[in-house]
Amino acid sequence: MKLKRITALLLGCSMLCGCTADAVQANTLPAAAYISSEEETTTAPVLTTSDTTEGITAQAMTSATTTVTAETTTEAVTTTTEITTTAETTTTATETTAVTTEKTIATRPQRPVVYKNTIEILGPNVVYTGESFDFGYKISHRNAERASVLWQCEGDAGSLDKDGNFTAEKKGTVKLKISDISNGLTDTLTVHVVDSPEDIDFVCEVSGIPIANKTYPVPKDYDPGLLSETYNAFLELKQAAYEEGLEINFMSGFRSYGEQTEVYAGWYEEYADEADRVSARPGHSEHQLGLAIDVNSIEFTFADTPEGLWLAENCWKYGFIIRYKEGTEHITGYMYEPWHIRYLGNELAEEVHFSGLTLEEYLGIDSWYRIEEYVFETEETGE
Ligand code: DAL
Ligand code: ZN
Repeated sequence: MKLKRITALLLGCSMLCGCTADAVQANTLPAAAYISSEEETTTAPVLTTSDTTEGITAQAMTSATTTVTAETTTEAVTTTTEITTTAETTTTATETTAVTTEKTIATRPQRPVVYKNTIEILGPNVVYTGESFDFGYKISHRNAERASVLWQCEGDAGSLDKDGNFTAEKKGTVKLKISDISNGLTDTLTVHVVDSPEDIDFVCEVSGIPIANKTYPVPKDYDPGLLSETYNAFLELKQAAYEEGLEINFMSGFRSYGEQTEVYAGWYEEYADEADRVSARPGHSEHQLGLAIDVNSIEFTFADTPEGLWLAENCWKYGFIIRYKEGTEHITGYMYEPWHIRYLGNELAEEVHFSGLTLEEYLGIDSWYRIEEYVFETEETGE
């Protein structure tokens, strides 16, 4: 599918992110560390010039709109929590212990199987091994008749049992194949078994969804710009909010590896290792996927403004989720960010929103750095 790139210049607001020293609160990290030198100035009752799609240039990228319907049971180190969603439904979720030395199966929520004329393998296309490996992986499927499923695994980098439990063995690639012998449907998934994030030179996906978090990095040179699907969905969201008398402003969209390096360095200068709670290291930000936007105010208090409340309740209707929800730092790796929305496409955003889960829980993945310390690159002086 052909998608498009929107330049930061066109949007009239580039990365807009830095750090302030005066935002430090006792005992807490401030959310307000972004500086906007060119804040969006939308005041008119129409979308601003900077919100138009003129000048978009074409660029291809994998679609992020795949819907996931996982349905596997898991054996995990978990605690069970009752989560009430905004739709007043109650769902049982699992919280995965972030770091464990035992090989366990990553959690995945229970979901109903929908029998359709397709079959699909659900799981990550990257699995860590070696010292970084502390989870087994449950590779599940969608739309297969459970009793007639046959798994096959080509390659010696890992093995898969008949129930879809994948064990990484060594660095390399394996091709997983699922067949439903009742109807002849098949699907395949190539899984890259890696020792370290440095082995990854492609965009990581989980069940076809592009992912960037502490576990899954983005290649340094990956530079799609803000994807048109993200931006167009944002314009719809903004318009809908406007019609209810609210103003949602675009503050930060695509950030390149280099821009994220500056952002992270700014945070690090102020907060040292604590910076990891609020900023992704370069190569780990969802902004580099072109699928995330920060809106309005980069303050926790934004959550309680009419705009913040509206965003949390309605963004799923436009294909977004609040990516880093309150109280989920132990799962997502980041503190609450009521201003950061991630584009998933309408179907998936709705499903994740009403699941009450974080994206990590929904996809059955974790988010922690395999390389503990961040080493800042220094410029060669030639001396
Ligand atoms: N603040 C989010 C985690 C980022 O830097 O991408
Ligand atoms: Zn953000």
